[in-house]
Amino acid sequence: MLTARIAVLVSGGGTNLQALMDARDRGELPHGSLALVIADKPGIRAIERAREGDVACAVIPRKEPGFEEKVLAALRNYKIDMVVLAGFLGILSREFIQAFPGPIINIHPSLIPAFCGKGFYGLKVHQAALDYGVKVTGATVHYVNEVPDGGKIILQRAVDILPGDTAEVLQRRVMEQAEWKLLPAAAELVAADVVAAEAASAAKE
Ligand code: GAR
Repeated sequence: MLTARIAVLVSGGGTNLQALMDARDRGELPHGSLALVIADKPGIRAIERAREGDVACAVIPRKEPGFEEKVLAALRNYKIDMVVLAGFLGILSREFIQAFPGPIINIHPSLIPAFCGKGFYGLKVHQAALDYGVKVTGATVHYVNEVPDGGKIILQRAVDILPGDTAEVLQRRVMEQAEWKLLPAAAELVAADVVAAEAASAAKE
């Protein structure tokens, strides 16, 4: 295996998906290939971005029965080695995490363990940081386990909160200064691990 085949799960605007595709185009994802995007609802901007970036896209509505089984089937069909949650707003079950054999990583827009877990997603995370009055926030990329936002941290970067920030202004700053850099860098680190593990197990056979 020369590259790890990556599936990206999205629920919205897809700016983190865009950051992954831009990194790929700049040659900054040498151990990964973006093989599939899975959108959990129709009509979202991320679907157009996948098309523009020449990545296959499946729309599997999260609200419909059998969502996780359908996602697992798509991952198998596309021979996916690792999954990146890039603004995916659902919570994957323990059964799903156990059923997929490769790593699953997620980007979260705060410095975990602050402002994370069930109910903390998107603008709500930034509003919670502003309401608390913290002066520094950031973003975290971590492995996904059965605890929401609870898996081992891969990369993390701090971002200042400035006087007068709104949740929208802060979200944009965290994306620009942290998320769009961290997610491609973490995806490359994990993809390189997947490729190395496969090479080691092939050498044993
Ligand atoms: C991003 O800020 C991402 O970190 C966050 O949703 C936004 C999606 O934006 N994810 C979470 O809150 C997960 N708990 P995008 O669709 O433009 O990448």
